[in-house]
Amino acid sequence: MIKTPGTMNSVSRMRHKENKSIGFVPTMGCLHEGHLSLVRKAKVECDVVVLSIFVNPIQFGPREDFKRYPRYPSKDKMLARREGVDYIFMPAPPVMYPENFQTCVLPGKLSSGLSGAARPGHFKGVCTVVAKLFNIVEPDTAYFGQKDFQQAQVVKQMIKDLNMNVGVKILPIVREPDGLAMSSRNRYLNDSERKEVPVLYESLREAKRLIRDGCRNTGKIKKTIKKTINTAKYVNIEYIKLLNPDTLEPVDKNDKKFLVVIAARVGKVRLIDNVIVS
Ligand code: PAJ
Repeated sequence: MIKTPGTMNSVSRMRHKENKSIGFVPTMGCLHEGHLSLVRKAKVECDVVVLSIFVNPIQFGPREDFKRYPRYPSKDKMLARREGVDYIFMPAPPVMYPENFQTCVLPGKLSSGLSGAARPGHFKGVCTVVAKLFNIVEPDTAYFGQKDFQQAQVVKQMIKDLNMNVGVKILPIVREPDGLAMSSRNRYLNDSERKEVPVLYESLREAKRLIRDGCRNTGKIKKTIKKTINTAKYVNIEYIKLLNPDTLEPVDKNDKKFLVVIAARVGKVRLIDNVIVS
């Protein structure tokens, strides 16, 4: 395990000198199959795999769950080793944000809606930490999940806008057998809530079916999703959106691809999910 940016960067540079490609999977730990699917892809495509585990304080709002975010460093290390991760980068917050830290990356339009609207400053925190991690790890390719679709788009835009030399791969959402998208936050759900939350994916599958059957009436699609989710007592819809996956603007009738995204509050837990229909 590597704890300091200096050591991590020296190791990466050494491996680059040996002509090895570096695949990078940034995470906040509490690893599950979703994270591990990214590692497995990186293992197949790159010579060396670096996984970072860092619960990034600056992407959490003041009333969010930074303090109680689940942390299982020993289990994470075991899982990462089992998957053949070559280096685990696990810095402490003061190492990443020393006292006089003052420079951030401010993303634009793509970050303003959806989760960005619900969580002000969130994507500024994400972009800043991802930019720092890219500078430290110097990966050839970084792996992200479609689960956080907006995050992946915002990061791709940052790479383009700031001329960063990193390729990005976005991989499908890994789900529990009942359809719930895997997330470190699922462990906050109590038993009654956990039983109900598969309605989220169920509603997305219904939307997918409708769109595939030719429906382009966004009002009708949203209504169907709403109706399904509202059968669950503890699940409160935050938003349902049908967007163009590239621009994150509302879909146009002529769009070839639809991104259907939902966010819901279940007790104190915020869950997100999405499907792309083409
Ligand atoms: P975290 O929530 O730990 O997620 C790390 C990566 O795993 C992200 O790219 C996320 O999209 C992906 N992931 C999470 N659940 C997934 C699932 N069910 N299927 C597939 N991929 C999944 O996202 C973050 O951390 C942070 O914002 C980070 C990018 C590390 C910056 O701090």
